[in-house]
Amino acid sequence: MVIQTDGLTKQFNGKGGFANISLSVREGEVFSFLGKNGAGKSTFVRTLLGILYPTSGEATILGEKIGNVEIRKQIGYLPELFQYQNWLTGYELLFNHGLLYKMDRQDIKKRIEEVLLTIGLKGHENKKLKEYSKGMKQRVGLGCAILSNPKILFLDEPTSALDPVGRKQVRDIICNLKNQGKTIFLNTHLLSEVEMISDRVAILDKGQMKKIGTMNELTNSPVIVSLENINDDMISELKKFDPMINILSNNMEIHVDDQTIPNVVSTIVKNDGLIYMIKRKENVLEELFINTVGEVDER
Ligand SMILES: Nc1ncnc2c1ncn2[C@@H]1O[C@H](COP(=O)(O)OP(=O)(O)O)[C@@H](O)[C@H]1O
Ligand SMILES: [Mg+2]
Repeated sequence: MVIQTDGLTKQFNGKGGFANISLSVREGEVFSFLGKNGAGKSTFVRTLLGILYPTSGEATILGEKIGNVEIRKQIGYLPELFQYQNWLTGYELLFNHGLLYKMDRQDIKKRIEEVLLTIGLKGHENKKLKEYSKGMKQRVGLGCAILSNPKILFLDEPTSALDPVGRKQVRDIICNLKNQGKTIFLNTHLLSEVEMISDRVAILDKGQMKKIGTMNELTNSPVIVSLENINDDMISELKKFDPMINILSNNMEIHVDDQTIPNVVSTIVKNDGLIYMIKRKENVLEELFINTVGEVDER
């Protein structure tokens, strides 16, 4: 396990923060922490990074207790509301970051070239940050986080302030980093983000972890079939695929994986059913999220 927490708690005079969180993050996965503003996501990440001291509980990163200085070198962090020194160029910002990480000057120069390609800012590195768009600023922040080539990345709401184009660019970079084998811990309040790039997700509400699992485990999205001529033989055969099949007049909801869909269709047709439409139910994560935390905040 890359990250492991056991009953981890951080509160401020008994309030806020998060409480009693036990989870593990595996190597190479994109793990998303989904929750509304104020749920405790940033506090959790800041605690794992050793910026905040936990109230109780334990946590390890790469097998070492949090706060370990050597392990910190394996971690990249893009804070929420990253502050930019507007008078610097993108290149200077990255270079200064390398110095902070005590990297060798020649290594920094070499690494900046790679990073500029990864974040799509090659050719813009000599512009001042005040001339950068929001998306470019966020991408150069991402560049700082990956400069030292860390194994683990903590990204705190990396796309929340961006427009759809900027969001897609950052999402593509995150997928690219995952393909390079990085483990990514992503804080977000955007459901779409989670649906598009996460391997596993935990839903956080008012400092409590409410749900955790893979997208499939959590959403278990059924296939919806609109049809006529539903009959008992058909239903009893379909129950072999899903004993809990749900039938509502001319619709059925059936929980099956993609490979089973052709068998469902042929079973219906063989039993004289007439199919008008078949599709997988959408927005299941949104439904789950609303049922878990009350309302959606898709900004
Ligand atoms: N330094 C702090 N002192 C007191 N309360 C804090 C502090 N940091 C965060 N909180 C409280 O902890 C809760 C979680 O905040 P935060 O982790 O920033 O949530 P999120 O990142 O999910 O929006 C909020 O109620 C917030 O007001
Ligand atoms: Mg936050």
